Amino acid sequence: MTFLTLNQISHQYFNKDSYAKVLENVTMSVKEGSFISLLGPSGCGKTTLLSIISGLINPTRGEVTLLGQPVMDSNSAIGYMLQQDYLFPWKIILDNVLTGPKIQHKDNPEIKEKAIEFLQDIGLSQVIHSYPDSLSGGMRQRAALIRTLLTDPKLLLLDEPFSALDFQTKLKLENLVSKLLKEYHKTSILVTHDIGEAIAMSDRIFLMKANPGEIAEVFEVPIEIRDLPPFEARKHMKYQLLFDRIWEELNKLEKKPDVG
Ligand SMILES: Nc1ncnc2c1ncn2[C@@H]1O[C@H](COP(=O)(O)OP(=O)(O)OP(=O)(O)O)[C@@H](O)[C@H]1O
Ligand SMILES: [Mg+2]
Repeated sequence: MTFLTLNQISHQYFNKDSYAKVLENVTMSVKEGSFISLLGPSGCGKTTLLSIISGLINPTRGEVTLLGQPVMDSNSAIGYMLQQDYLFPWKIILDNVLTGPKIQHKDNPEIKEKAIEFLQDIGLSQVIHSYPDSLSGGMRQRAALIRTLLTDPKLLLLDEPFSALDFQTKLKLENLVSKLLKEYHKTSILVTHDIGEAIAMSDRIFLMKANPGEIAEVFEVPIEIRDLPPFEARKHMKYQLLFDRIWEELNKLEKKPDVG
């Protein structure tokens, strides 16, 4: 059984006196344990698509299934990490990352131990008892990621989690996140504007076009790059070749006049 399937998803937003066609016939299937990126111009519907996959928005047409079940019924299996970290300023980091298990009434000594282990793994052992205000942007994003992972989601949705970070922090975090997700065999979908990040982290890249949002092209990342940590992947010869192909396609998409 395919892990995740999107079957002809179309979506329109209705306002008081107008409507906007945002997504048109988006179909994809995602294997368990794989890493997918969505790349495309601003406004092409990437966030809308993630919200549909998470079950937060019901698409106008089409269906999303996770392990054969419509996503509406399996919401707790999906972790959604947004661009902003939304950490609670009045809670220390440990309590922040335990928010999910607490809501699910699953907070016990074992999960607390797991939280501490995760925080140590991701380099936050010094700030377990600190408040979010005293952390850097990169540290806060790492804490937010651990909070998402602690709910043990089958599928992780990441909406531009690194875009607000400086380049160096971003590269380090890409490595850490990639290692952690591989270790725990998580399936992930990342939205990014960064071609390099998409290549360095993913198995497959879906390039989207706008007005309406559609899949324009799918790129397979060469196996030689997939097996490397993102920082190393960026130095591989095949990385540059794929970068150039995607760059060219993106430029072509931007030149095409909008229709409809
Ligand atoms: N709640 C809403 N009501 C009406 N229109 C919306 C709503 N949310 C998004 N849109 C519109 O739908 C389109 C797609 O938005 P979406 O946020 O999914 O794009 P995106 O690809 O994530 O863009 P970005 O890269 O800038 O984050 C945009 O034109 C946006 O204005
Ligand atoms: Mg978005």
